[in-house]
Amino acid sequence: MTTENGKVLITSALPYANGPLHFGHIAGAYLPGDCYARFQRLMKSDVLYVCGSDEYGVAITMSAEAAGRTPKEHVDIFHKVNKGFFEQLNISFDHYSRTTCEDHEAPVYDFFKDLLENGHIEENTKDHLYSEDDQCFLADRYVVGTCPQCGYEGARGDECQKCGTSYEATDLRNPRSKQTNAPLILKPTKHWFLLLDKFKDQLNEWLDQKNWKPNVTNFVRSYIKGLRPRAITRDSSWGLPVPLPNAEGKVLYVWFDAPIGYISSSIEWAKKQGDDELWKRYWCDPSTKLVNFIGKDNIPFHAAIFPAMVMGQNQPYKLVDELPANEFYNLEGRQFSKSEGWYIDLEDFFTKYSTDQIRYTIAANAPETQDSEFTWKDFQSRCNAELLGKYGNLVNRILVFAHKQCGGVVPQKGELEPVDKEFIQKMSTLTDEIAQSYETFRLRKASHLVMELAQAGNVYFNEKHPWKDAKDPATVQRMETTIACCLECLKLLALTSLPIIPTTAEKLWGYLGMSEGLLHKGWNEIISMEFPVDQALSKPEILFRKIEDAEINEERKHLEQLSEKAQADKPVKIHPLKNEVEYEDFQKLDLRVGKVIASEKVPKSKKLLKLTVDLGLEKRTILSGIGHYYEPDALVGRRVVVVANLKPATIMGIQSEGMLLTAEGKNRIDILDAEEVPIGTVVR
Ligand code: 2FM
Ligand code: ZN
Repeated sequence: MTTENGKVLITSALPYANGPLHFGHIAGAYLPGDCYARFQRLMKSDVLYVCGSDEYGVAITMSAEAAGRTPKEHVDIFHKVNKGFFEQLNISFDHYSRTTCEDHEAPVYDFFKDLLENGHIEENTKDHLYSEDDQCFLADRYVVGTCPQCGYEGARGDECQKCGTSYEATDLRNPRSKQTNAPLILKPTKHWFLLLDKFKDQLNEWLDQKNWKPNVTNFVRSYIKGLRPRAITRDSSWGLPVPLPNAEGKVLYVWFDAPIGYISSSIEWAKKQGDDELWKRYWCDPSTKLVNFIGKDNIPFHAAIFPAMVMGQNQPYKLVDELPANEFYNLEGRQFSKSEGWYIDLEDFFTKYSTDQIRYTIAANAPETQDSEFTWKDFQSRCNAELLGKYGNLVNRILVFAHKQCGGVVPQKGELEPVDKEFIQKMSTLTDEIAQSYETFRLRKASHLVMELAQAGNVYFNEKHPWKDAKDPATVQRMETTIACCLECLKLLALTSLPIIPTTAEKLWGYLGMSEGLLHKGWNEIISMEFPVDQALSKPEILFRKIEDAEINEERKHLEQLSEKAQADKPVKIHPLKNEVEYEDFQKLDLRVGKVIASEKVPKSKKLLKLTVDLGLEKRTILSGIGHYYEPDALVGRRVVVVANLKPATIMGIQSEGMLLTAEGKNRIDILDAEEVPIGTVVR
């Protein structure tokens, strides 16, 4: 591998500051970006790695409203929370900014003005949905209505969640405000449109030179075919105001300003370095390699819309060179979701497990070519069998051995046997392959190869049995050669694992007696560096603790409980009211308090219980479908409300002479009871 020394500008998608992030986000755009940045720094490339919070847009105003906060209060909270999360995960941004920062506005307005003056933005008046009750236009996400395609009544403003059709909100039948249910009318309003269709040829020619993942390229090609003018302004008070006269109440669409956040974050970074122009060294140099790390849902904006915006403005900004877009990362088969109770409490997580354990687990199963998932079992096995069993074990046994048999210093290599030469060759090949994998965004492969390197060390150590050689003065030299080669392996292990598990790698590097960090020397110098003979080695500590089965079972149980609780706490689906009835109709029902005096399961039925209920005037057999939730014994003695004059019905060969009143939730059924009144009391 040769040293690159070139400029590499790396970005990870700006996360919305509207809720806490989870490992799913980390697997998509952040861990891969961070590992790449760390690798490039090791390669002595000139790296600038930026990110920041995406703070405008309708998604923010909606979640702020739901939380009872102003948008600004809301983004202030989640900017801080998410920044803290990135720090916890050791994501090495050179700068983490936010789109509400002072330096954001100027580049965004420059883009807008250039595009307008160059004829790529046009004003147009079109009908939009307007709420007369609230006196405002409503953005798509605030609208529900009847799907024009399938007739589903609760369809969203942009796409029908039932049949998947996407449309303009104005196509919905019977459009209503999602929040107040107020009917909406069509009213003309002015907006500014980016004439994206004009960029089709230029975008296609530019894409011809790219060698991106086929799923990215294919998707973009077909997306470009369908490009048409797109509104880049919204009626809202939260966002950057449209910088024109007569544009009151109009702000820029969040996806217009967000990608420019990569530039403004770099500007803010430069100012912090004390050189206001420093960011241009990266953004305005054609030799810079610009790499955008994103999740697959962000492909159109990074591969077509933002590039078109860059093409249409006047600054010599870089267009994206590499677009490693990742698929989704789920949790135990389902999407991470706080509201569904399907998440991992991060505060709790980091009191028990380390950042490197989760970084490695995600990297080893990164969603590069297809969706992947975090499972507690996989986490346990990655941590125990790989990090501890291969990596930690090798570090420990070699360093402990070197302390015992080599005086705790690096021994001198003697004459090499074929087995040593083979091992050295294998290490060299693996190291090159690891570099190649990082370079080509194959993090999964890189992490597997790192473990292969550790395992190669374990196999070599076993094969050479230095503990035997140490016993005989005639083979001590052979033992020292073995240990010298093993230390070489630890050196390469520290180096190659740094991008993924930086804390552990630096610790190991320190155990090897190195005073300066791995970055100081960098990849090539470390590879060619001869281990200084007699360099003092430190005694190792335990790098990874074992995760017990009981802990993992507890975590899975906890996840199930969180999910059940979320389901139970969810407001029930509101059913439309049935038609009005006369009081006389209601009076036709004879409701009585009865006492359950016997209860048993109905054979061959999963949920039916056969109850004997004393109604005072007589005893009844009643079948009830509550067996999933109640053990038969638990009901005996309870006083329940019974529909006493319901026509008997035969179910599974048993005649049921009445019905218990119950309320059925998602995961439970409550029986209506009347414990304080005598048996036979009439319920009115
Ligand atoms: O999808 C998202 O979470 C967006 N906030 C990503 C923005 S990336 C960039 F363009 F700013
Ligand atoms: Zn539909």
